[in-house]
Amino acid sequence: MMRPTITVNGKETPLAPAAPHTTALDFLRERGLTGTKEGCAEGECGACSVLVARPGVDKPTDWVAVNACLVPAAALDGQEVVTSEGLATVGEAGTAPALHPVQEEMAVRGGSQCGYCTPGFVCSMAAEYYRPDRCEHSAGDADAEHGPNGFDLHALSGNLCRCTGYRPIRDAAYAVGAPADEDPLARRRDQAPPAPVATAYTQDGKAFVRKDTLAETLRLLRERPDAVVVAGSTDWGVEVNIRSRRADCVIAVDRLPELRALHVGSDHIEIGAALTLTEIERRLDGRVPLLAELFPQFASRLIRNGATLGGNLGTGSPIGDSPPVLLALEASLLLADADGEREVPLADYFTGYRQSVRRPGELIRAVRIPLPQAPVTGFHKIAKRRFDDISSVAAAFALDIEDGVVRTARIGLGGVAATPIRALATEAALEGRPWSAETVEAAARVLRGEGTPMDDHRASSLYRSAMLGQSLKKLYAQHTGDAQTTEAVTS
Ligand code: FES
Ligand code: FES
Repeated sequence: MMRPTITVNGKETPLAPAAPHTTALDFLRERGLTGTKEGCAEGECGACSVLVARPGVDKPTDWVAVNACLVPAAALDGQEVVTSEGLATVGEAGTAPALHPVQEEMAVRGGSQCGYCTPGFVCSMAAEYYRPDRCEHSAGDADAEHGPNGFDLHALSGNLCRCTGYRPIRDAAYAVGAPADEDPLARRRDQAPPAPVATAYTQDGKAFVRKDTLAETLRLLRERPDAVVVAGSTDWGVEVNIRSRRADCVIAVDRLPELRALHVGSDHIEIGAALTLTEIERRLDGRVPLLAELFPQFASRLIRNGATLGGNLGTGSPIGDSPPVLLALEASLLLADADGEREVPLADYFTGYRQSVRRPGELIRAVRIPLPQAPVTGFHKIAKRRFDDISSVAAAFALDIEDGVVRTARIGLGGVAATPIRALATEAALEGRPWSAETVEAAARVLRGEGTPMDDHRASSLYRSAMLGQSLKKLYAQHTGDAQTTEAVTS
């Protein structure tokens, strides 16, 4: 096996002597690439954003921005990374590097003041600059969150700035043009990204391991049931940085082909557990409306570029954003171990606070969503901030309404119990009844009593219960409002 090496700004850089838990951020800074900054070390500020070459959706390679503070450097073995230093073009000896177009716009429009956040902003901005279908948008598509150049402002949702007030940064984002034909990073998109490589990196009794196949990974997991399994490391990275946790063995599963397939069949959709949320979002392209509603509310683009459904379900958090949605969609999980695979309905998966029926040695291989989907859906996340926040409470609805009567209702809730739950009593209060304000009022009262919401620093139990009831009323208002609008438009 080759010595672990990362290609940083075009230069092969050995991983050693970094420890297996060393973050990509520390790895880069220790090698003099101090443009990459540490603000929070927990994925919330984006000062550490860097670009990684990843399998593309519309081209062979996408430049994807990730939080370097969360990703272990060892996870980038064999991969290509570009930092803010690598975006600039180095000229002849004695001449200053030429700024990259996003750096140029940030400079001339006053998007950088103290400059601490700027390298992270330019990396996130560069990822969006190189998004292949960005420029297909015309000026007519511009709205509050997209520039006339097609720039999606949410590409910067994981980057914080203390100084600028953001408007100059938005001005810079909306001013960038299309990459030039000879732009090396634009041209790089036409070639395949680096293939994943097996990694076995050990130091002082601690190991970071990546296997080539699922079968090898499951065999290792059987030998090391104590191992921490990571994909995007958006959760484990926080544990390492903030709680100083160290694992004897970390096993990476994010590049395993068996966990990265997305299949749309006639009676179900199967989503690989290690696809990132961004990949699922772009590949499904609205095919599952409830998921399409979830994604923009699930953390920032930087986090979604690393986070996976497998990780969100694997941690078993009662406030993960995907479980309520997947419960409403009646999803099941495919759990694999060295002996085979079994399918478990998500409704039967969680058994207690951060506990599940997943056995030691088992991995979530995929999530299966049955088809057809219920036509009336909604996901309401109540949080202190609109984006990039942890939910106080979340409710997802999937209703089949025929001739004005609720035939089936599936409701998933998060933040109201030790586990994500189905709102079974409310479902029963809706099913077989007319889809009317009276039914919704009565069912909302039932919904307020679901679960055992608690008081904590995010919200009181009373507030959480009240928000549950309101979320059903909001769904009704949205649905009937839409229906009236549609009638008005078509009559
Ligand atoms: Fe804040 Fe990484 S340092 S997101
Ligand atoms: Fe100072 Fe952004 S320019 S934090």
